[in-house]
Amino acid sequence: MRVAIIGAGAAGLSSARHAIANGHECDVLELAPQLGGTWVYTDEVGTDRYGYPIYSAMYQGLRTNLPKEVMGYPDFPIPEQEKSYLTQAEILNFLNLYADNFNLRPHIKFNHHVMDVRPVECNKWLITSINKPTKEEIKDVYDAVMICNGHYNEPTTPDLPGQELFRGRQNHSHQYRSPESYMGQRVLVIGAGPSGLDLALHISAVASYVVLSHHLKEQIEYPSNVIQKPDVRRIRGGEEIEFVDGSCCRFDSILYCTGYKYSFPFLHESCGITVSENHIEPLYKHMIYTDRPTMCFIGIPFNVCAFQMFDLQARYFIKGLGGRLLPSSDMMRVHMENDMQARWARGYTKRQAHLMGPDQKAYYDDLASDADLETIPNVIVKLRDESVKKLYNNLLYFRENRYKILDENNFVQVH
Ligand SMILES: Cc1cc2nc3c(=O)[nH]c(=O)nc-3n(C[C@H](O)[C@H](O)[C@H](O)COP(=O)(O)OP(=O)(O)OC[C@H]3O[C@@H](n4cnc5c(N)ncnc54)[C@H](O)[C@@H]3O)c2cc1C
Ligand SMILES: *[C@@H]1O[C@H](CO)[C@@H](O)[C@H](O)[C@H]1NC(C)=O
Repeated sequence: MRVAIIGAGAAGLSSARHAIANGHECDVLELAPQLGGTWVYTDEVGTDRYGYPIYSAMYQGLRTNLPKEVMGYPDFPIPEQEKSYLTQAEILNFLNLYADNFNLRPHIKFNHHVMDVRPVECNKWLITSINKPTKEEIKDVYDAVMICNGHYNEPTTPDLPGQELFRGRQNHSHQYRSPESYMGQRVLVIGAGPSGLDLALHISAVASYVVLSHHLKEQIEYPSNVIQKPDVRRIRGGEEIEFVDGSCCRFDSILYCTGYKYSFPFLHESCGITVSENHIEPLYKHMIYTDRPTMCFIGIPFNVCAFQMFDLQARYFIKGLGGRLLPSSDMMRVHMENDMQARWARGYTKRQAHLMGPDQKAYYDDLASDADLETIPNVIVKLRDESVKKLYNNLLYFRENRYKILDENNFVQVH
């Protein structure tokens, strides 16, 4: 079959690898001039030299928030070295090593921006892309499409009452590159996901003070010029901001670390995929389009062992392409409805439709047993859980920890 893969990040690369290994002919369409997606750092923000939006949210000085023992692919681990928490450049190198090891580069069409995807007869797909340097429009028909366009690209920002009154700078973490522009400033960082936690720390090194506004139950340990406050109530004036506990504080800049939303601007409405409040429908097992199972989305679930899961999902989809693995579209819909009902009943909100966290091991095991594939070992999930706990309990020092995997179930901390 001819398989199109949209995106050459960690998900697209592992999709290409498995598509090729199973004898499919594959094109990877990638809008950037290089592979690696999120892990590519660029000073540029806004638009690139061809007038297209800059994709990556990567910033200077980023070190991973998961140990390399968790971040490799199942049968292609990150090579052994002195530390567990790697730099952006080291992960990017690893992805290049992966691509070269499986000879993926000849399949990647760089600088190709996918503009439109729509179904044509027999569950095939017509894909239109633009070759950015030449502006040439390319239309091609594929038997299957794997959507690997990432989801840290389309920022969400809250509507704060009085927002228009604020005279300082307001940016989203997607635009953040380095702390210099916050030198000596009074900075409000909103949101305590991985980015907010990390950027409050980076910026505190140069800022006069940083207020981190969040609604976590626990307080995070920070240097003394980082103050934690609850949610913002409203912006009162040019620089004054009031919090829900009634306290007020003055700021020169606001940095929104308020996350992202799923976005598939290239999917024509005739594809029949909808996204509402971050719930993508209708997907079987959070990845396969029930109505036309020659389309899949790799990497939608979050709070997961990302590269490991991409690889498992890719193997699942490729196996489904060839054979009798997938049930009928009607049965896939029923399965999806039941799965989502069970999730709502367990307390997941609509925004958490694809959150895995405590359910991730069951998700991996289900994919694996369904398609007779090797699952993701327990030790990987356990080590991830341990690392996430340390991120919150020991933000300042957890990246100095070193781990070693002993077997399928056990790891040790060696430093
Ligand atoms: C700042 C930051 C830090 C992170 N840190 C960690 C970490 O420490 N550990 C961890 O496991 N995960 C981390 N993540 C999550 C990270 O996103 C995943 O690890 C993983 O890199 C996602 O891979 P992906 O292939 O799904 O998406 P991406 O890496 O985003 O790749 C998507 C690719 O698709 C391309 N693309 C998009 N739209 C189009 C189009 N229309 N046409 C053609 N190409 C297109 C993009 O150019 C990009 O190359 C972090 C994310 C961010 C933003
Ligand atoms: C940050 O926001 C300001 C407006 O508040 C804008 O002028 C500036 O370009 C933004 N910075 C970046 C890096 O995008």
